[in-house]
Amino acid sequence: MARAVTGIQPSGQVHVGNWLGMIRPALTIAQDWESYFFVADWHALTSHPEPDVLRRATREIAATWLALGLDADRSTLFRQSDVPEVQELAWILGTVIPAGLLERGHAVKAARDGGREVNASTWWYPTLMAADILAYGADVVPVGADQKQHVEMARDMAIKINVRFGDDALVVPEPRVRAEVGVVPGTDGRKMSKSYGNVVPLFDTPKRTRKAIMGIVTDSLGVDEPKDPDRCTVFQLYKLLATDDEVAEMDADLRRGRGYGYGHAKEALALVMERTVAMPRECYTEWLASPARLDEILDAGARRARVAAAATLDRLRERVGLHALRRGSLG
Ligand code: TRP
Repeated sequence: MARAVTGIQPSGQVHVGNWLGMIRPALTIAQDWESYFFVADWHALTSHPEPDVLRRATREIAATWLALGLDADRSTLFRQSDVPEVQELAWILGTVIPAGLLERGHAVKAARDGGREVNASTWWYPTLMAADILAYGADVVPVGADQKQHVEMARDMAIKINVRFGDDALVVPEPRVRAEVGVVPGTDGRKMSKSYGNVVPLFDTPKRTRKAIMGIVTDSLGVDEPKDPDRCTVFQLYKLLATDDEVAEMDADLRRGRGYGYGHAKEALALVMERTVAMPRECYTEWLASPARLDEILDAGARRARVAAAATLDRLRERVGLHALRRGSLG
């Protein structure tokens, strides 16, 4: 069966952009594909989280996947750092990637723009991410548009390895960016991203979620003036959550104006948002209240993931001329 692999960094709160842009499409793919979903805790270390914060955030991401419908019997959910084979693969991949290419990576740029230091792990980030993808033999990688560059780097590394060591050394992956979702706008109209501080949280309290929605920036057209839905961030988000009929209605209301202002549109969005997340939020809270069960799922996932990664590494070690590792039993 074809494989899908993706990961989310446990840093900051999961937001509506993560869900619509990546998690939701990934869960759709998981219905037909063998899927490996992990919490990218190694990647999170590049920004120096407090250990307890990292541990908590790791559980939060796992709980988010489960609350949104991941079936842990069918898909493999695990912590990135539970599979040491991935680090080993990253080293081998590093030998085929020019250092200058890493320098132009998105993570380096983001750290620089945010005034954070670019430590060596930030710089190495795309190599580790490529190893995440290639270790499990992913055919497709569901990601948000911002991660496409990294998946393409993984693709390049796989091709280079295959040219040297044989076509079937690594599976060449493809990014899968959901075109119909496009960019999910944040409260300031730019792409929703924690680095812009413009997110609508996914599982925060109804009050804080509502507050984020009420804070969406609009132009200053009055209640009675006709408005252009295509230029309205509230409408763009509404479109991703509401039914077709509801969307058609807001579209007409905005265009008409006359007693329908942005405040009304925001109320409608807050309502649909609450309707959508109420059940999964409850589920999320329950998962977080049972950390032992959560850890059990992650541990079982790691065992399965290691078997897949070890198969790749055994093959690759042999191809590149390293000695075969006696791994003992991974079960
Ligand atoms: N870099 C990704 C992010 O920040 C997380 C990630 C790590 C990832 N490894 C991956 C995503 C492998 C897809 C595949 O969102």
